[in-house]
Amino acid sequence: MRLANKVAIVTGAAQGIGAATARKYAREGAKVVLTDLLDKGSAVAQEIRDEGFDCDFFQADIAKSSDVQALIQHAVQTYGALHVICNVAGINIPGSVVDLDESIWDLTFAVNVKSMFLTAKYGIPEMIKCGGGSIINTGSANSFVAEPMLSAYVASKGGILMLTKQMALDFAKDNIRVNCVCPGWVDTTINDAHHDLFGGRAVLEAAIEEVQPIGRVIRPEEIADVNLFLASDESSSMTGSAIVCDGGITAK
Ligand SMILES: NC(=O)c1ccc[n+]([C@@H]2O[C@H](COP(=O)([O-])OP(=O)(O)OC[C@H]3O[C@@H](n4cnc5c(N)ncnc54)[C@H](O)[C@@H]3O)[C@@H](O)[C@H]2O)c1
Repeated sequence: MRLANKVAIVTGAAQGIGAATARKYAREGAKVVLTDLLDKGSAVAQEIRDEGFDCDFFQADIAKSSDVQALIQHAVQTYGALHVICNVAGINIPGSVVDLDESIWDLTFAVNVKSMFLTAKYGIPEMIKCGGGSIINTGSANSFVAEPMLSAYVASKGGILMLTKQMALDFAKDNIRVNCVCPGWVDTTINDAHHDLFGGRAVLEAAIEEVQPIGRVIRPEEIADVNLFLASDESSSMTGSAIVCDGGITAK
């Protein structure tokens, strides 16, 4: 049990990487609050409970201050502590800076970056009361390298990397570690619009070795394994770091 006696919040937990992470956390002994805008997160939580593990679902817009404050309060009231925040929720709406509507730029930064400010702002005081904790922010290979037509997404993912490092400095003295997970192409629905832009998923898959040197799409569970490592005490020396799990994209 790598997360025994820990209480964790996982955002974006209704599907994809977030759902896979919530499952792993619960199976490793954490009490988990899953949160998402989509109410189908409650079905994921029910599946985890059916396996005999402890978890709860709290529906929230992670870009909204009042929702995040209620989420943190809910976790602490339900489980009496907070040790881990795994920020997975994110959106990716393609467009160059000329094409992209201003409202999409603002929404992207609200969901992808401001959400991490909010969970930290209201979560860190609770973690300090518990003697410390671990925050895991989901960046991307795009935290390091840009891609055509993803202006807001790439900029937001670059920002997440530096926010991670900055927060790590401020809260190291409080025994709070802040790290970033930077995936490559993972098999989830977030990429659907991106696939369409480049002629569909089949076209991209046909060129997979050029896109991602390991020659296959990454499974959400593989990223969840990294989220588990960073949440656990096995990563106790790490803060302000990025773990790049991108199938070799940034090695080129
Ligand atoms: N899939 C990939 O190839 C890939 C690559 C690099 C990084 N990532 C990052 O991984 C994270 C998870 O993405 P995924 O691949 O699992 O995609 P996904 O679309 O399956 O999951 C994202 C989740 O975030 C939730 N969400 C969106 N806006 C929200 C809001 N305002 N409030 C609360 N929840 C909200 C969605 O409902 C969804 O459940 C994202 O941050 C994404 O940028 C994914």
